[in-house]
Amino acid sequence: MRLLPVLEGLHSAESFNQEFLAALFRRTREIEARPLEFSEALRGRVVANVFEEPSTRTRLSFESAVLRLGGAVLTVSDPKTSSGSKGESLADAAHIVSGYADCLIWRHPRDGASRVVAQNSRVPVINAGDGRLGHPTQTLLDLCALDRRWESFQGRTVGLMGDLKHGRTARSLAWGLALLGVRVVLLPAPGLDWESSFERRILDHFGMRLRWMRHPLFRTWTGSPEARVLEPRGMVQGLLFQDDVPTLDRMDALYLTRLQRERGAAVSGDAYPGLTLDILRDPLLDNCLLMHPLPRREELPKELDGDPRALYFEQARLGPLARMAILLAILREDTWPLPPISPLPAGQPESALGACANPNCVTQSEGLMTPWRVVGASRRQFLCALCDCPLAVDYVGCRSTLRVHPIHSPAALRISPENLHPFRERQEALAAGYAWGG
Ligand code: NCD
Repeated sequence: MRLLPVLEGLHSAESFNQEFLAALFRRTREIEARPLEFSEALRGRVVANVFEEPSTRTRLSFESAVLRLGGAVLTVSDPKTSSGSKGESLADAAHIVSGYADCLIWRHPRDGASRVVAQNSRVPVINAGDGRLGHPTQTLLDLCALDRRWESFQGRTVGLMGDLKHGRTARSLAWGLALLGVRVVLLPAPGLDWESSFERRILDHFGMRLRWMRHPLFRTWTGSPEARVLEPRGMVQGLLFQDDVPTLDRMDALYLTRLQRERGAAVSGDAYPGLTLDILRDPLLDNCLLMHPLPRREELPKELDGDPRALYFEQARLGPLARMAILLAILREDTWPLPPISPLPAGQPESALGACANPNCVTQSEGLMTPWRVVGASRRQFLCALCDCPLAVDYVGCRSTLRVHPIHSPAALRISPENLHPFRERQEALAAGYAWGG
């Protein structure tokens, strides 16, 4: 497999930065105000939309975006009609389709799929949803919708509710909100929380702190009166200090998600959290924007559609605009660039690390060796570079001194990134020719 030094295109909300988002918000406004200026921008360009999972909004809004920019679209919209159903590898499919188009938009049920597509593509790739891992363009339109209602994100409080374990939209949005200085309240359905390692990574990345807050509604939603909160440092407003666990008095937006049954999610009885007209009367939600990536189920009843706080149709409306801005930045950087996002490293394959522990990782279906990347400055963590699952690394060797150290030792921290060699066991490092450095 050809390994790119970095993964080009758009794969994860982890890559965003504030300048990029601010410019994207501006570009969507420009496109909306003067659509004719952009109507020939992709003349002669072909974009391939490959959807190996069901989709309405994402697929059609990408198609609409390309057509409104004057480009042409190739579409695979039914997984049964793609050659994946004949057992073709994702790598081969990417290789082939990238010869037919100038940009690939790919949705796939495996975590990390868009990164494998990118490594085997000659053209940039946009992740349109990969398993439960991420949906970065959904985050862009979610944030665009909030940007149009709020003067600033700083100091806002947003709840993420429902199937956080399997829902990729909430995971991606958590990165975007944290980046913009938003306090994020976690309201998972019982048994459907995300892994603590995922949350820890966001906290570390942005230097946020984890705290608990309470509100009577939390019990209705999650079964517990207290909720975990990811909080930017220095944020104190909006709290009533009664106990050691403060009460939240205001929520600025609530992002609901549906139960991801197709990913094996289940809840007992009617324990899945959602909204009702009655709940909406609670003062906590007085000025709370109601968001949902859609499609919705029982968690978001139709009776709420007329409520001025409902934002979900506006989110969907902004889908083509946000996607036009991205397509322009990727395919017409000459005229409509956006500030660069940080590309993800492709990672280095390492047989000694064994298989990635995530059963839905794309390495499992593609038969790939797990490539690793490292995150965290003061406390390094090794991740599967494809699905971001933490790897069990306890020792690191230095390729220049050929000494191996425990991962969190000062000596290990001094190893420069290009010299890192991760190991699960000390013995494995010694067998590979490293001397024990303590
Ligand atoms: C979401 C998805 O596919 O992850 N839908 C979308 O893109 N708007 C959310 C979902 O399917 O629940």
